[in-house]
Parts: sequence; structure tokens; C-alpha cells
Amino acid sequence: SSILLLNGPNLGILGEREPDIYGRETLGDIEKMVAAEVAEAGWDVISVQREGEGELVRAVHEHRATTVGAIVNPGALMIAGWSLRDALAAYDPPWIEVHLSNVWAREQFRHESVLAPLASGVVVGLGALGYRLAAQALLRLCEVGAG
Ligand code: DQA
Repeated sequence: SSILLLNGPNLGILGEREPDIYGRETLGDIEKMVAAEVAEAGWDVISVQREGEGELVRAVHEHRATTVGAIVNPGALMIAGWSLRDALAAYDPPWIEVHLSNVWAREQFRHESVLAPLASGVVVGLGALGYRLAAQALLRLCEVGAG
């Protein structure tokens, strides 16, 4: 089985991007971490990072029927990514929203996510570890995780 690791705008430059806020790990580091987490269950990871909402919508459609779950960091599309929200509404497997930073400790405009009400859960403020925890959660939700 495969899971979709979906990252939105500005997340391809992780490691260099405001490291005090987003940490020093690159998206490549995160991909490896998630892959290692789910490998035991025999899962692999399809990682897609795009700057544009339409491309992310297309990726959700493309992997809709062939993935068992998804980890989604929408970046700033959390604020008004309505078409990404609609795409995820049509995505039946469980999916977890992740934000590296604690969005509630930041500017007011980051305090609400239009996607979050549809997610199985949300991991916020734990940096790259959040992706790993989201992968563990997906294993549990799909009942292949230990314990
Ligand atoms: C982010 C938080 C968003 O508000 C911001 O626009 C990002 C990154 C995070 O992972 O903390 O691009 O999703």
C-alpha cells in the first residue's frame, strides 16, 4: 500500500526557509523519516510538493483511489484553500493535517484552517516530528500499527 505525503507552497525549501520557525530538516529528510516509519507495515510513500493549489488538487485526484491515507501540510492554503478542501472532501481514506509551527502562537491569520474540519486529526507545532507522528496515526487508523 501507499500513502500520499502532500506538501503545499513554500515547503520545498524547508531547511532554508525561516529555520527558526520551520526547523532545519529538509523535505527530503521528512520524506525519509515518514518512509522509515511506515516501512514496517510494508507501505511506501508518494511524496508530492507543489506551489500551486490546482496542482495539489490534481495530485489528490490522481492518488485518490490508490492510497490508503495521506499526510497533508497545506502551508498557507490552510487559510483559504477551498478547492484543495473540496478535493480532500472527496478523498475517502483517513488523512492527517500537519503544521510544523504552532500556528496558534503566530499571526491571527494562521489561527484557522479550512481543511482541518475534514481531517482525521491535526498535528501542530512539533516540527518535523509531527510528520512522523502523523504517519504513526495513519498506521493505527488503518489498523496495521502495533498496539
Ligand atoms: C505551515 C504554517 C502555515 O501557516 C504557513 O503558511 C506555512 C507552513 C507550517 O507547517 O507550520 O507555509 O503550514
